[in-house]
Amino acid sequence: MMELSCQSDRCSRCIGSEYVCHCLKVTEDSLIDTIVTLGIRNLRELRQQTGAGDGCMSCRIRLQKYVDEYARCEQVESVAMELTMVG
Ligand code: FES
Repeated sequence: MMELSCQSDRCSRCIGSEYVCHCLKVTEDSLIDTIVTLGIRNLRELRQQTGAGDGCMSCRIRLQKYVDEYARCEQVESVAMELTMVG
């Protein structure tokens, strides 16, 4: 996680602690944790839960990609589970 000596929010030792939404200071770790824990399905829910995207709005495309990626992974897991049960 971010170390006290860090001067940048993009240093390689801080992966996951990097801000996705700079305005609201929401990190990638926080977004992923919220999406997975709460099963977030859309950008509106993510914004309501984290506040991300409510400033300059320039991060909303990136926020949507996190939601889309979770949905895609969930579908893959679901299909894999079905295939396991069949086979
Ligand atoms: S960077 Fe997220 S609202 Fe500005």
